[in-house]
Amino acid sequence: MATDDQLLLARTHLASARRVTILTGAGISADSGVPTFRGTDGLWRNFRAEDLATPDAFERDPHLVWEWYNWRREILATKTPNDAHHALVRLEERANDFHLITQNVDGLHRLAGSQNISELHGDIWKVRCTSCRVVIDNRDVPLALLPHCHTCGGLLRPHIVWFGEALDEQVLTDSVRAVESCDVMVIVGTSGLVYPAAMLMPAAQAHGAFVIEINLDPTPYSSDVALSLQGRAKDIVPLLL
Ligand code: APR
Repeated sequence: MATDDQLLLARTHLASARRVTILTGAGISADSGVPTFRGTDGLWRNFRAEDLATPDAFERDPHLVWEWYNWRREILATKTPNDAHHALVRLEERANDFHLITQNVDGLHRLAGSQNISELHGDIWKVRCTSCRVVIDNRDVPLALLPHCHTCGGLLRPHIVWFGEALDEQVLTDSVRAVESCDVMVIVGTSGLVYPAAMLMPAAQAHGAFVIEINLDPTPYSSDVALSLQGRAKDIVPLLL
């Protein structure tokens, strides 16, 4: 568990920071009951990503992919933000310049009230037309198994960045700018294994940021960051205030 001295050091750096950037992963939503990807009962332990989260998988069997995303939407529809999500909203309210970058598609940061967010991997509550590329909000649970576009009739797909797909250019540019210009970066609940998100921490450090990691377990970052705080996000993030 993080020590009082470590927490004091973290608060001191955050209080004097001009610019604060946060990067979150599945671990911040674990305390809301959302499965992580690589944890003990993680999604990729029980499902094959290549069958469900790639453009080829969708090409091959859109029915199966939509069945899986419907299942995930049904789970997420019952989940609410936890104390870690709420604490980040308060951190944003008091910071001069604040940017929240998330790898999560669960929408819990928005639900908590976070404002300045970059969703690197998309949003499970949005769908995109494979023909006219229109993106629309959709919170129907369940969603029709093969939903079609009201504008052009094309097949809709989840507005998610799948393995092998490029991130939205503007979202990535905003995120890189936020990490390269911040004084303090806080990383919460990510294994740091998936690129390009995994390059954001080294980029922040290379530009002189003081990096704080919060994670239940050690990660590849833990020995490199200025401060590694081990514990649950819902317990530690509120202590940063
Ligand atoms: N509090 C803090 N950290 C936690 C908690 C918790 N309650 N529970 C789990 N963790 C940590 C784990 O120790 C792990 O390091 O959260 C991390 C979750 O790692 P992953 O499951 O790999 O999730 P993430 O890093 O977000 O994955 C990145 O991979 O599958 C793709 O697109 C998907 O966005 C995802 C990306």
